[in-house]
Amino acid sequence: METRKIGEGKTKEVYSYDASHVLLKFKDSITAGDGAKADILKDKGVINAQTSAIIFRVLERNNIKTHYVGMYDERTMIAEKLSMIPVEVVLRNIATGSIVKRLPIKEGEVFEPPIIEFFLKDDSRHDPMLNYYHMEFFKLMKKNEAEKIESIMLKVNKILLDLINRMDFVLYDFKLEFGRNNNELIIGDEITLDSMRIRDKNGRILDKDLYRKGYPLDIVASSYREFLDKLSKVV
Ligand code: C5P
Repeated sequence: METRKIGEGKTKEVYSYDASHVLLKFKDSITAGDGAKADILKDKGVINAQTSAIIFRVLERNNIKTHYVGMYDERTMIAEKLSMIPVEVVLRNIATGSIVKRLPIKEGEVFEPPIIEFFLKDDSRHDPMLNYYHMEFFKLMKKNEAEKIESIMLKVNKILLDLINRMDFVLYDFKLEFGRNNNELIIGDEITLDSMRIRDKNGRILDKDLYRKGYPLDIVASSYREFLDKLSKVV
């Protein structure tokens, strides 16, 4: 089969596949600080492709539209071709990360209801936060689409909370990216430990915060593997 590379990000390569699909090849790279810190973690691409595939399948079973179609090989996903919106949508159940730096909120504070935030994908500006007015101005999405996305985020949160709880872990927050196909809003990109914050019930970190905080790479790798092993057992 003929495939042509049509794009590349920090952790994935995109290849053309057919008229309505692309291939997403997950790389072994791990990055933090808008690309300021970068390393290679052997087989991370395989682990993240598998993790994301399982979670996308769980969402699809719950009638949430994602770009996931199937696997091409162990690290490559066949995905619906979307026109991606360069916005990161974050939902927070428990405070940690950027929100406790930006606002007078204590680490570990619980958000009920969850807090949803939008950020422009722009590493050079450190992904600035956006409101509905900014998103209309930049022609990223209209207010009614942002509200539709918020309702999808809340549905996904319920499903992920249930899943992560069954693994005996705690879901602090997660990030999704959306694209359009014929004006329908569809979840794209990935859902992995790079894009969720997960801790165990004793507060042990399992996600990319291990890497952000400078833990040894073998600890990061074994945590990603542990999460996938456990995830495979609960679905
Ligand atoms: O850094 P911050 O607290 O804003 O991150 C919120 C959530 O979004 C975390 O789960 C983090 O892993 C994810 N995120 C991401 N990609 C980014 C920034 C944050 O997946 N560029």
